[in-house]
Amino acid sequence: MATTHPQQVEYLYQPKVPWCQALVEEVVNHWRQRALAHPLLAAISAGDLSRRTLAAMHADVLWVVTAFPEYIAAFASRCPKHDHAMKAKLLENAFEERTHPRYLADVINALGGDGDAILNDSEWTYEPGDWAWHARNWVETCAYHLPWIEGLAGTAVGIEAIVPTIFWPITQALRTRYGLTEKELTWHEIHSGEVEQRHGNEGLKLLEKYVDPADSATVNRCRRAVDRTCKMQAQEYLDYFWERRS
Ligand SMILES: [Fe+2]
Ligand SMILES: [Fe+2]
Repeated sequence: MATTHPQQVEYLYQPKVPWCQALVEEVVNHWRQRALAHPLLAAISAGDLSRRTLAAMHADVLWVVTAFPEYIAAFASRCPKHDHAMKAKLLENAFEERTHPRYLADVINALGGDGDAILNDSEWTYEPGDWAWHARNWVETCAYHLPWIEGLAGTAVGIEAIVPTIFWPITQALRTRYGLTEKELTWHEIHSGEVEQRHGNEGLKLLEKYVDPADSATVNRCRRAVDRTCKMQAQEYLDYFWERRS
């Protein structure tokens, strides 16, 4: 598709194991392309979406990911006991994630919303939309209930491999069309850039390492978890706010 807009450089790790190659090609790349073709991203890139809708979109994401550092720490605590290197990596990832909710609240404030009210909502007064309830329940299912590797597939790959694709055009538009400053775009720089790309690629390497390709039940369940999470963002998230846009 011809476009005058700058394009994101391809960042995804290319796995060596055939089932992971198929996962990237048939699941992750499929959903990345679907997201990039979505009319909501086109409207944001053109500067046509209201700041109110943009604030609402980011507010619901903040409500979903407020506890993201805890989720990653939960994966570290559920990691196979003697894989010290993996445990260290997950704990470092969790530590890295600890500042992200604050940065996301700053974006919401810059767009005219109240990010701090969500960040400090100890009384559960914030009313998230149906998408956010669904998304948070699924992420918590991954973190606390699914088998460890399947939950990681759903989060590290399903979220972190696709978020840079969805948020890269949003980042460009927030800068050029909506006037957000570099400081206000800290969360976006992290999640469309090198940090989140690395998290997603570490997730793919983890699947290569831990899933026995001959164990078709686990292969299929991991693939299903990635697919569910990708769909939740590339289709359900974008559709939800497209239908409610102003
Ligand atoms: Fe993050
Ligand atoms: Fe991340």
